[in-house]
Amino acid sequence: MLLLLCATLFVFLIFLYVLSPRLPPRPVSLNGAHVVVTGGSSGIGKAIAIECVKRGAFITLVARNEQKLFDAKKEVEQHFMNEKQVVQCISLDVSKDFGQVKSVMKQAQEKLGPVDMLVNCAGISVSARFEDIKPEEFRRIMEVNYLGSVYSTMAVIPTMKERRHGRIVFVSSQAGQLGLFGYSAYSASKFALRGLSEALQMEVKPYNIYITVAYPPDTDTPGYQEELKSMRRRRPRARRRRPSCLLASSRWLLRVQHGRHLVPGSRRRDIEPWASSPAANLAVELVRPELS
Ligand SMILES: NC(=O)c1ccc[n+]([C@@H]2O[C@H](COP(=O)([O-])OP(=O)(O)OC[C@H]3O[C@@H](n4cnc5c(N)ncnc54)[C@H](OP(=O)(O)O)[C@@H]3O)[C@@H](O)[C@H]2O)c1
Repeated sequence: MLLLLCATLFVFLIFLYVLSPRLPPRPVSLNGAHVVVTGGSSGIGKAIAIECVKRGAFITLVARNEQKLFDAKKEVEQHFMNEKQVVQCISLDVSKDFGQVKSVMKQAQEKLGPVDMLVNCAGISVSARFEDIKPEEFRRIMEVNYLGSVYSTMAVIPTMKERRHGRIVFVSSQAGQLGLFGYSAYSASKFALRGLSEALQMEVKPYNIYITVAYPPDTDTPGYQEELKSMRRRRPRARRRRPSCLLASSRWLLRVQHGRHLVPGSRRRDIEPWASSPAANLAVELVRPELS
């Protein structure tokens, strides 16, 4: 009898162990939340900002070009749910100087309150054979796509930890799941985001901060149109129907609110990420006392 009881308890514990990382945190409400979107003046970033505004969020749009920011602000404002909502714009190169990114994020928080959600969407692309990409282009793409996300995240993490609340999104790419011909520089920068997000998720989970990575497929945006100009001849697949930004971003946002680690690309099945595996969860539980 005792043996049966022990065996049942053992099976129950194993069941909890396997199930626990799959239990989602309480979904975050965006009503009244402060959402910062880097790369928010165009394409996917702007579409995410619009979806957040439709759910009642206050928005900070970050990008370099002031006119594009101003135009995006006007467009996002058209989707306000109530008259209290605000969209502020900040002209900033996220890749240059951590000190500058930090002080700009501080200003943004002074005006609209602590950041509840950061969407790292600012990005650039280079499409060419490895030997035709200049060393400075390799450096630049890593600075914008990877370090720009690191700096923005570093600037908001301390407040999120204090409040034990936050969501962070990294916009990778399908080229961040598999290496593609012509994308040696771009793919590497997007793969880097995956490593960053999985390691960071383990560190910040005890603080109720959840990280989501998006792996969008080719999506119709101004950035993508620019890229097409240089590669249409080389890649006929580029003419295929692409998902609309708005549709994609609304689907993602639900997963971000629910603290899911992965927003899948549409042409691949989910890759089970290490960060949400039972083993990773156990590791987080083991180090949790030291962290707090
Ligand atoms: N469209 C696709 O097919 C696709 C597929 C997979 C992944 N993605 C990723 O999704 C993200 C958005 O792509 P998109 O197609 O929407 O591009 P997009 O239309 O070109 O928009 C890029 C945004 O990033 C901003 N940005 C670029 N460099 C910046 C910097 N150094 N500092 C601050 N802001 C900067 C741009 O504004 P400024 O130029 O004014 O700074 C713009 O707001 C990128 O990370 C991209 O790699 C796109």
